[in-house]
This record gives sequence, structure tokens and C-alpha cells, in this order.
Amino acid sequence: MSRENITILGIESSCDDTSAAIIRDGVILSNVVASQKVHEEYGGVVPELASRAHQQNIIPVVDLAIKNAGIAKSEISAVAFTRGPGLLGSLLVGTSFAKGFSLASGIPLIDVNHLQGHVLALFIKEKGVSFHPPQFPFLCLLVSGGNSQIILVRSHLEMEVIGQTIDDAAGEAFDKCAKVMGLPYPGGPHIDRLAKEGDPLRFEFSRPRVPGLNYSFSGLKTNFLYFLRDRIKENENFVEQNLPDLCASIQHTIVEILLSKLKRASKETGVKEITIAGGVSANSGLRDALKTNAEKYRWKLIIPKFEFTMDNAAMIAITGYYKYLNNEFIGQNAVPFARTQL
Ligand code: KG4
Repeated sequence: MSRENITILGIESSCDDTSAAIIRDGVILSNVVASQKVHEEYGGVVPELASRAHQQNIIPVVDLAIKNAGIAKSEISAVAFTRGPGLLGSLLVGTSFAKGFSLASGIPLIDVNHLQGHVLALFIKEKGVSFHPPQFPFLCLLVSGGNSQIILVRSHLEMEVIGQTIDDAAGEAFDKCAKVMGLPYPGGPHIDRLAKEGDPLRFEFSRPRVPGLNYSFSGLKTNFLYFLRDRIKENENFVEQNLPDLCASIQHTIVEILLSKLKRASKETGVKEITIAGGVSANSGLRDALKTNAEKYRWKLIIPKFEFTMDNAAMIAITGYYKYLNNEFIGQNAVPFARTQL
């Protein structure tokens, strides 16, 4: 197989974003993301509605990705799709579309683990932009709405989860705490914005005691809920009167929990090349804390471009590209997985 002009169509449909992207020889040509607004009024993603919205979006999104890339459909070498983890009904739409596209075009099919995609987003090249990927081995703190993991990355396709949450993900903690304060879904970006005006040390919340490199966020969420319930009993306007301080304090606690295990992971593995991935990596408190720690512990810190940290198909296409180079393809009998490890 030729190793040039390898053009991958990536499809992402694991949760509530329908996305398609084209990557050629590791360089991004297009990345279209259709975010679903339908979930906002429910305060969380409704799986059935997500699946239906993916069905409506998938064809126009793929069509636009191909047009934006300025290529013909016949130039696509392979189609890569998110196989899991994610919502099964959502994953089924992307998987079925990718299979159909592969069959109709007579091109290979590549299955991609969504989490591996988040990590390999660090390797997306952009035309005219200098490229500074992390050096192997590196540690990736992957923090999103569904995952909180510390991953030891040895090569593009060799990764080991060395720490992970035993219950809620960091993004879930942000979103659930935001919800009890009456903020819209997803609450993470709202907490981030409001925290900028608040005092991070005003309120103290519980820290989990989990052994090793694992995380836990469910106790913090419950602690926050009971704390608010007790304060509201005394003053029904407590949340409105203290919103910035509440946001700053809860953000500070989540960031400290994340950093404590990352520091430990770096110490235990001796790896000082540190990266972040996933939606929560957009958090400004987390980014600032990472920069401070990088100076203190002499980490080489690589923070990806914002648009590649959220769910997107460019990260699926780049993973597809590396799997293509490694001749890792899958047949038409591939089925999606709601839960799967790296
Ligand atoms: O990776 P992602 O786009 O997809 C899922 O795994 O669902 O991550 C979404 C998560 C949500 O929980 C959202 O609240 C959180 O990322 N998030 C943030 C910020 N931006 C997105 N959390 C804190 N601060 C932010 N600035």
C-alpha cells in the first residue's frame, strides 16, 4: 500500500456531537462538528434524542467535511469511526454509516477507541502551523464528561491506563455541581467563567481518599449537595449571593484532586512530558495549575488546541491514520461498545 496521500475520513458519534473530518498524511483538511442543542432543556444528554439527532446530522456533516477539505469522495483511502466507549444508540449511527461508506466506496474500515482518539489529538498537524508533538513516553491527563484517566503513552498505538476514576468523571463533577447551583448544562464552562471572579479558598470541600493513582468524584458531589442544602436552610438566597466563590472553590477542589494524582504519576514513572486531553482540559483553573506545576517540577507541558480537546472527528481520523500505517483494519461485522478500555 502506498504511504503517501493517505486520506482518512473520521466519524465521531459517541455522545452528543456529530462530527466528520478529513486528515491527509496527518494534516487536517476539515473538521465539522454539529453539536446537539436538544439536550439543554433536560440538563443532560438524553440518549434516545442523541441517537435521532445523529441520524439527522450524519449525512450533511460528512458531506460538508468532504467539501471543506476540497477533495473528491474517491480520494478517501479509509474510513475511521468511533467504536466506543459511548452511548450505544449514538455509536450505532456512526458505526453503521462508516460501514456503509466503506462498503459502497470499496475502502477499508478502521475502528477507533474514543479515548485513544483524545490522546492522539495531540498529533494533528495543521497547514502553516508549527508542529510540536509530545515525545514518547508521555503522560496524558484525560478529563472529560465520561472519563478521568492518567494514561502512560509509549507510542501512538501503545497506551496504558495507570489511574482512573472509580466512580464519576471530573466533567460529571463539574456538571452536577453546576446543576445544583441552577446553572445550565453543561455546567463546566459556566463554573469556569464564574470562578474567575470568586475566591477559591472561601469554601472547603471534602477530598477523596483513594489509593494509588485512581480518582473518585462522587463523594465531593454529595458533599457539595449537602453543604448547599444546609446553607440554603439558613438563607434561601445563599447560592445567588455566593455564586462566584462557590464556583471558584469547587473548581479549585476538583483541580487539586486532578493535580495531586498527576504529580504522583509523574514521580512514580519518572515521566516529565505531560499533556492533557478531553473537554475538561479547556478549564482555565486546570490550565493555570498545570503551568504552575510544570515550572515547579520541570515538566514539559503540552496543551492541545482548544477545538481538538472537545469531542471531534479529527482525533478519530488521526488515530485512523496511525492504524492505517500499522495495517489495523476491521471487518463489516464490527459492533460498537458502550464500555471499553484502552
Ligand atoms: O470531551 P467532552 O467534550 O465530551 C464528553 O466526554 O462528554 O467533555 C465534555 C465535558 C463536560 O462535562 C463539560 O462540562 C466539560 O467537559 N467542560 C468543562 C469546560 N469546558 C468543557 N469543564 C470545566 N471547565 C471548562 N471550561
